Formats: sequence, C-alpha cells, structure tokens
Amino acid sequence: MIRLDRVTKKYPGNVVAVDDVSLEIQKGETFVLVGTSGCGKTTTMKLINRLVDLTSGTILLDGEDIRSMDSYSLRRAIGYVIQNVGLFPHFTIERNVGVVPELIGWEKNKIRKRVGELLDMVGLDPEQFAFRYPNELSGGQQQRIGVARALAADPDVILMDEPFGALDPITRETLQDELSPLWDQLDKTVVFVTHDIFEAVKIGDRIGVMNKGQILQSGKPGDVIKNPKNEVVASFFAQHRFQLELLTTRIEHIVESYNEKHLKREKDLPALQSNDSLIDAMDALKTSTHQMVPVYDSKKRYLGIVTRKSVTKEISNLIEN
Ligand SMILES: Nc1ncnc2c1ncn2[C@@H]1O[C@H](COP(=O)(O)OP(=O)(O)O)[C@@H](O)[C@H]1O
Ligand SMILES: [Mg+2]
Repeated sequence: MIRLDRVTKKYPGNVVAVDDVSLEIQKGETFVLVGTSGCGKTTTMKLINRLVDLTSGTILLDGEDIRSMDSYSLRRAIGYVIQNVGLFPHFTIERNVGVVPELIGWEKNKIRKRVGELLDMVGLDPEQFAFRYPNELSGGQQQRIGVARALAADPDVILMDEPFGALDPITRETLQDELSPLWDQLDKTVVFVTHDIFEAVKIGDRIGVMNKGQILQSGKPGDVIKNPKNEVVASFFAQHRFQLELLTTRIEHIVESYNEKHLKREKDLPALQSNDSLIDAMDALKTSTHQMVPVYDSKKRYLGIVTRKSVTKEISNLIEN
C-alpha cells in the first residue's frame, strides 16, 4: 500500500532528517512512528504527501511513484491531520470540513451532505456545529473537525501527525478510544506519528521506533516491547517497561471456556473484548464483585471468561520474566 524504499531527506545545512528509511505499510493497517522530538517523524509524513521533496529514494502509493502523481490525485488519496488542526478561522466548520471536496470540484449539495455525514462520524451534531467558527469549539472538538476534514474526500490513506498532542489527557484518551475504531470500520490505512509510547502501543497495529532519522525497529507493539533489538530501542521505553507489557499483553490466550448460561445476569456487569489488555482485565475485575469477567469478540459473540486467578498468574509471570 505505502512503500518507502531507501528514503533520505537532507535539509540545507547538512541536516539529515530522514536517513535511508525503508518501510512497508499494509492496506488497512495503523502504523505508528514513535520517537523523541527531532528524530524525523514529521519529515517522514511530509515526504509521503509530498509537502517535502525527497533527497533520494522512492515512495510508492499502491505501486505508483508519488512523484508521478498530480496534486489532485495526491489530495484525493491522502488525508492529513496535524496537531493544531490548521482550521481556517474565518471559515465555518462546514466550509473547513468541505475544503478538499471544494478544491476538487464537488458540487455544493454533495459537499453539504458529506459534511453532515462526517460530523456525525466524529461525534459532533451537524445542526449544532456546522455553522460555528473554529474559535467557538473546544480543543478536542477542533481536533475532531481536523479528522472529519481529512476524511472528507474519502482517501485510502490518512496521515496523522501528533493529532492529540495538545489535548489534556482525558480528552486525548476519549479521542483515541472513539476514533481508532473508525479507521478499522472505514478500512483506512493510517500512518500516525507520536512521541508518546503509550499512545503508540495503544493505537498501532505495528509501531516503528525512530531515532536520528532512522527506523531502528518495527513490529507489533508487544513484540517490540518484549524484544527490543538494541540498547537505544530498549532505553526508549525502559522506564515504563512493566506498564507497557501489561498494556500490550492481550487476554486472548487466557480466555477459558465457560457455559454462557451460568453467567450471572446482572445489569452493568463488566465485560471484556478478546483484544483487550491485562490492564483492561484488571480494571474490569476491580469493578466486578465476581471472580470472572465474560469475554466477547469484536462482533459481540461470547467467547468465554477470564478469571481473577488467571489474570493474577499472568501478571506474576510478567514480573518474573
Ligand atoms: N524545513 C526545515 N529546514 C531545516 N531543517 C529542518 C526543517 N524541518 C525539520 N528540520 C530538522 O529535521 C530534523 C527532523 O525534524 P522533524 O521531522 O520535524 O522531527 P520530529 O517530527 O520527529 O520532531 C530536526 O533536526 C529538524 O530541526
Ligand atoms: Mg513533528
């Protein structure tokens, strides 16, 4: 889907912002580039949507060299969300969200209808928000608008550069929880940049740890955390290793079969999804008065239970290893 082949970017003054990066991102995948400030994340994103020109190497989008694509096709193909949204202050929300469709010549009614759909999608009531101006929205709401705008022309790829970085922790988590499932539903390929390792492992199907312009290691969050390839990668999350392991250990493999009929039928009984983490399991058990929590798959089909005992055992395994 997106392929970077030996990509390098040098800025004037001999700054090597991106250094010989090769990377393949699959269709429908969420890939997170994570690394400290100045390591080259933003430049990598801007190379993909050609806001910055390559010094050497090739970037292919669905097999096509981005340098041979015209700017119309590129805008259609790639949505872009940045930290401070970059909404036009003197445009209404409707006009802001419709900016790409307008640019590529959609007719007015089609744009209006699309903007309504998009606002719904990102959890904002169109009637309430479409005719407001950006400064009449909270930071979190503005960030939702940024996402809606990136989705406007239904691109296959979305680039997100620290989109939630300026938000308070609670708003940030709400947006992570609400918007990540959206990519899956819409089957978008997402490249997400953050300096926050917790955000990275939470959102990413795969993560790439970046340092001094290079991607040192990429893989599933749990694999990278368990098996860092070198000292630099290890030191990047050393301080939080245990928490990160709790967060990246899925409960799938400790689900036990249990007859659904025997489950306690109570209102608001906590439940888990098979891809939830040990932390989610601990939270669920903490609010439950029972020794077990039922587990369902993403289509809400019952899979079995997770018990207090098996969760405790998993955690002590992590401590010992
Ligand atoms: N337009 C530019 N001109 C010169 N140097 C730049 C420019 N943009 C970024 N850089 C430099 O490139 C390096 C990588 O920057 P950037 O990609 O923004 O990193 P990150 O997003 O990971 O913080 C930094 O050393 C930065 O100072
Ligand atoms: Mg950046």
